[in-house]
Amino acid sequence: MKIAVVGATGLVGTVMLKVLEERNFPLTELIPVASEKSVGKEITFKGKQFKVVNMETAIAMKPDIALFSAGGSTSLKYAPLFAEAGTTVIDNSSAWRMDPSKKLIVPEVNAYELSIDDKIIANPNCSTIQMVVALKPLHDKYRIKRVVVSTYQSVTGTGVKAVEQMMNERKGITDGPMAYPYQIDLNVIPQIDVFEANGYTKEEMKMIKETRKIMGDESIRVTATTVRIPVMGGHSESVNIEFENDFDVADVKSLMQKTPGIILEDDIDNLKYPMPKDAHEKDEVFVGRIRRDESMPNTLNMWIVADNLRKGAATNAVQIAEFLVQKELI
Ligand code: A2P
Repeated sequence: MKIAVVGATGLVGTVMLKVLEERNFPLTELIPVASEKSVGKEITFKGKQFKVVNMETAIAMKPDIALFSAGGSTSLKYAPLFAEAGTTVIDNSSAWRMDPSKKLIVPEVNAYELSIDDKIIANPNCSTIQMVVALKPLHDKYRIKRVVVSTYQSVTGTGVKAVEQMMNERKGITDGPMAYPYQIDLNVIPQIDVFEANGYTKEEMKMIKETRKIMGDESIRVTATTVRIPVMGGHSESVNIEFENDFDVADVKSLMQKTPGIILEDDIDNLKYPMPKDAHEKDEVFVGRIRRDESMPNTLNMWIVADNLRKGAATNAVQIAEFLVQKELI
């Protein structure tokens, strides 16, 4: 099993390598790939050194799977070239997500859709992944009509430059590189990605469209407000869910507890609820603050937290790869 990690020197690529190592992914050869400027650089994986190669070299090595996290335009250009060489690409960018011919996969939700013919598979947006893991069992049981979500997103979702901006601001350095149009430390920015014509941001529209595609139900109504906060460990979400049918709060908690990939942290008497500080470097989705919305019939409030670089990106991609290997779909 030859595995290429495209964008191996980047923020998500680095976590992909870590997750492959931790989960003891059954690979025999690792091919770290990055841009020309990084070719020859050494990457340590399971105590061994691997040299970074460029795209052309990697394609010629015919990897079985390529995990891509090198930006949308790189994916658009190179994913088809890897696919033509027989490689199955799992792409973390937004390039292929809404392409009707490509599957958008969160293993806990819709891995069953995958077949041996899927050569480019899309990894969803980080905020969407953690939300649908919790929504799916609830939709199966109570039928979701509408979701209202507000996010509190970590600066790591923007990349290294954003982390640097926040840390510089914390140290009082005012002339460092800026990833955001405003100061992020001691602030909250109600804009993630660019604005679209309808007044929503691209991130908000991703959450709306991707949720329906992954859940396989275009009737679910979703509205989102996505917000950047000066936090590092993961993304948090306040989610209000209206169901067709009534529910029992205790049953919702028990469903969450039983769902693979979810950890229920909901014990208000002991002040237990999910927080990004605790979700950091964890692969699971953390759910808490489950309570009835007393202003609307059949409606629930919950709080969902996950490490956006892990379950929101690298872990989800590696889990797709694991599924392909287990089911012999490559
Ligand atoms: P490099 O480090 O050589 O620039 P991040 O999202 O954290 O900025 O990381 C982006 C990743 O994608 C990096 O590993 C970067 O490599 C890689 N990358 C960017 N452009 C290309 C390209 N054209 N071909 C291959 N890798 C690329």
